Amino acid sequence: MLEKASLQILSEALEKLDAGFAALPANDAQPPGAERIGAVLAETSERLHDNFPYFHPLYAGQMLKPPHPVARLAYGLAQWINPNNHALDGGRASSAMEQEAVTEIAAMFGWSEHLGHLTGGGTIANLEALWVAGRLEQQKTILASAQAHYTHQRISSVLQLPFETIPCDTRGRMDLEALEKRLRRGDVGAVVATMGTTATGSVDPLAEILELRAKHNFRLHTDAAYGGYFALAENLGPETRRSFDHITQADSIVIDPHKHGLQPYGCGCVLFRDPVVGRLYRHDSPYTYFSSGELHLGEISLECSRPGAAAVALWATQKLLPLKEAGEFAKGLEQCREAAIDFHQRVVADSRFVAAFPPELDIAVFAPRAESVSASSTMSRSIFAAAARKNLHLAIAELPVTFFAANLGGVKVDQNSLTCLRSVLMKPEHHQWLDRIWELLSQATDECAH
Ligand SMILES: Cc1ncc(COP(=O)(O)O)c(C=O)c1O
Repeated sequence: MLEKASLQILSEALEKLDAGFAALPANDAQPPGAERIGAVLAETSERLHDNFPYFHPLYAGQMLKPPHPVARLAYGLAQWINPNNHALDGGRASSAMEQEAVTEIAAMFGWSEHLGHLTGGGTIANLEALWVAGRLEQQKTILASAQAHYTHQRISSVLQLPFETIPCDTRGRMDLEALEKRLRRGDVGAVVATMGTTATGSVDPLAEILELRAKHNFRLHTDAAYGGYFALAENLGPETRRSFDHITQADSIVIDPHKHGLQPYGCGCVLFRDPVVGRLYRHDSPYTYFSSGELHLGEISLECSRPGAAAVALWATQKLLPLKEAGEFAKGLEQCREAAIDFHQRVVADSRFVAAFPPELDIAVFAPRAESVSASSTMSRSIFAAAARKNLHLAIAELPVTFFAANLGGVKVDQNSLTCLRSVLMKPEHHQWLDRIWELLSQATDECAH
């Protein structure tokens, strides 16, 4: 089941890496415990079985999948060096690779100039963006939609910045009227627009939020941790496309290569449109930054030590699959979206289910039809478990019942939220597997109906 052919490529690349250090005297020291590594690794493999099969198309649940083989191999290769991208002394080559890879991401959003770097993930990247917003607009409120990732509230509390949520419309997007009403009261430092919410993949109406920025003057941060790469997809709906086309006007962008960018975990990215914000990071370190007058990435990031291997993996992936419209990488994203649309249409056409609004990106949410919202919620949990027993792994989400309102005819609304089923169809091959996925879902649903 697991891809192993590429291990030979790693071995060849390792020989090449080794050859670059041939001038050094041999060092034959064995790492401690070398003779027991095989036994420990065998035990490690056993322990790893207690995971869902994220690599398989029948895993169609949370936002999880293994990295592309080139990323896995490049990360592994870099581990023989273990560069640290905090300072050039720790990772000269990998710092240059990080800057190149991040420049390509910025270019994907239409930025020829930027300040940016990789981070441990979306949370840290968002933390930096809101930290900058808080430094520039001191003690002013941060706004995000009720469907924004919970991290924004937590980050605001870490930064001791006031935080408020703005309600969403029936498609999970920030409600513009509610936003404007709140902006009129003043004292807003930043608005977070989510370009693909975690639960439903809804995209906040960025063009209209930008019009409000012109009137009310706040920093606009876009959290595109999950959805950002869809900027390259050519099959978005017109409203979603319009929002992505306006991302160039944001003040900051967060995107997670470890979500749709095919990377191992530990790879987020923050970008600022105005490089001048770099001054906010200024600090002295008596033990680093002496090796060169060039920029050390630690001078423009809150984290100190960071895996150079993450930059190496991202650089190699973007070499293999450039971030270009109509390229192989973009086509993969388009297939994911195709899968979600196809899945949604099957749900709409099947009287056993209640559909939510059509997917904007590649997340589909749906619920079993039952006499009431509470009964549907109970049944969602049963289907989730029954499907898992058949090796079809879905996810569960708790969403406002308003997201399903248009399709709830005949279902008694006895509570405000619905526990529904959720599927992130983030592997391009999900599209080819849809018949099989649907067959297993149908069987699980019928079992739970009896
Ligand atoms: C929109 C959004 N923002 C932020 C995050 C947090 O990112 P991370 O889990 O990489 O810290 C997520 C995670 O799913 C997300 O979907």
